[in-house]
Amino acid sequence: MFTINENFLRLNENYLFTTVAEKIKQFSSEHPDANIIRLGIGDVTLPLPPAVIKALHKAVDEMAVKETFRGYGPERGYDFLLEKIAENDYRAHGIDISTDEIFVSDGAKSDTGNIVDILGENNMVGITDPVYPVYLDSNIMRIKERSITNSKIVFLPCHPENNFLPEIPKKRVDVIYLCYPNNPTGTVMKREELKRWVIYALENKSLILFDAAYEAYVTEDDVPHSIFEIEGAKSCAIEFRSYSKNAGFTGLRCSYTVVPKELKTKASNGTYVSLNQLWLRRQSTKFNGTAYIIQRAAEAVYSPEGKEEVKGLVNYYLENAKTIREGLQEKGWTVYGGVNSPYIWLKCPDTNDSWQFFDRLLNERHIVGTPGVGFGPSGEGYFRLTAFNSHEKTREAIERIKKWEI
Ligand code: MLT
Repeated sequence: MFTINENFLRLNENYLFTTVAEKIKQFSSEHPDANIIRLGIGDVTLPLPPAVIKALHKAVDEMAVKETFRGYGPERGYDFLLEKIAENDYRAHGIDISTDEIFVSDGAKSDTGNIVDILGENNMVGITDPVYPVYLDSNIMRIKERSITNSKIVFLPCHPENNFLPEIPKKRVDVIYLCYPNNPTGTVMKREELKRWVIYALENKSLILFDAAYEAYVTEDDVPHSIFEIEGAKSCAIEFRSYSKNAGFTGLRCSYTVVPKELKTKASNGTYVSLNQLWLRRQSTKFNGTAYIIQRAAEAVYSPEGKEEVKGLVNYYLENAKTIREGLQEKGWTVYGGVNSPYIWLKCPDTNDSWQFFDRLLNERHIVGTPGVGFGPSGEGYFRLTAFNSHEKTREAIERIKKWEI
């Protein structure tokens, strides 16, 4: 009889947002008239920017003509997009990243999940708690059971007492996942703090996997947009970026990952190996690239109109974040995040059981959020709301909560 990867049996039965979706489905079928407001999964609701739509139409038309039709694309992505990324997201900010350090992909979720393919199984992996579930689950999927029981994963608790910033671990970690602005807590890591982690990684020859999917929401000057703003980071970090939360690509799918050429580690045979080469090898084997039309759409994000339109989208969601943050504060609830982030993290006002709060909020106010414990044990007693709905629905949700006798 064939066997399976039994690591999958050690995962929660469902991915967090699958469980949430099932609960909403069941509630809707039992209460078909309920006007549910969704502030759960971090999915955008505004349409794509006009500059992106125009680029998509043009690219589709090119695909209809023999002379301009495109088949498989270059492994790292088309030069027209790589050049725009290097110029606008890095060089314009004084960071020297070359096009052969960038890999265009179909989502930060894919890349943060797949990166484990090029890393060793015996790494001690540091994961913040609470955390975007993909980092933990993708490690559980491949680390041998014995390794997990031998504590190959070190959880770094994040709570109000440490400003939701992981403390430098006492036990050495080889790989550390950092996501800032943070999902789920909506909090940030300022430049000085990130510098401490880069120094730690350089001193310990560790690797930082830096998820910057929410960098467009940074509003404060001392909060870095990229880990490569920190000196030395090119020798110890990989950065993941996405077009989902800024340009609304959650349904279109495009992202990129930066693997600097300076990033090397010693293999067991004593030779130094470039992670850029390994990731290229991995991607060219298992991935055939992001569609041409989608890469053209991403390119349009960097046009003058595209930049303005994206700024408009981000500001729209940031206004919702403010509505939620201030509304809940007026109600007397304890809230975090929502300043440099589309996520608001709140202390459940009535219970330490975040699923119980989820059920009450859904049943009594018809509002969907995400229970903190779904992001890890330190999330218990907390709850996440997103700013990705419309102004009208966000305001209505806050009005419903304000009138709630809880
Ligand atoms: C979330 O709600 O945490 C996000 O939608 C997750 C994601 O971007 O995959």
